[in-house]
Amino acid sequence: MNKKEAIEILEDEIKNCKKCGLYRTRIKPLTDRGNLDAEVMLIGEAPGYNEDLTGKAFIGKAGEILNKLLGSINLLREDTYITSIVKCKPPHNDDPTGEQINACKPYLDRQISIISPRVLVPLGRFACAFIFEKYGLRKERISEAHGKTYTVNSLFGCIKISPQYHPSVAGYNAEMMSTLLEDFKAVGRNI
Ligand code: URA
Ligand code: SF4
Repeated sequence: MNKKEAIEILEDEIKNCKKCGLYRTRIKPLTDRGNLDAEVMLIGEAPGYNEDLTGKAFIGKAGEILNKLLGSINLLREDTYITSIVKCKPPHNDDPTGEQINACKPYLDRQISIISPRVLVPLGRFACAFIFEKYGLRKERISEAHGKTYTVNSLFGCIKISPQYHPSVAGYNAEMMSTLLEDFKAVGRNI
């Protein structure tokens, strides 16, 4: 099976998924395609209002910020694959619960093995915690890990992990934007 076929099967499963309570209130789960040959995979938290309407990743305010960050390291969005920890929007933009994250986890695990990126960029504390646990890294807060690079081995070779604060934090804090711009240089150095 090639990547496209494997991703299409996965997307169909996500569209029909009822493995956690979020299916009840979602409009569209996140099944944005991204570039199947991407070297860089970005992992957000959960769809927001605009993403829920369209099934596309990072198209609202946080998406505008993400585009600026990608632009700052000359990385085209269409050269990346973007997904999130949970694929359905939590009501009231609540944080995803441990139960929801666990229910949704197999989809992200499969996305990572199908795309087999060289660089993983967890955005925000939930994605950071997920990826650190998956690759057996010692737990670190996002406030310690942001902008650093961690190297791990996976079944398909060495992966660089470059955790970042979630772009939405820059929406209400200009200082955070400078930090994110500085931290994204670490992603740039790994591509
Ligand atoms: N926040 C996320 O984590 N992902 C999105 O797609 C939008 C906002
Ligand atoms: Fe399924 Fe994930 Fe949506 Fe829960 S968040 S219903 S596990 S796709």
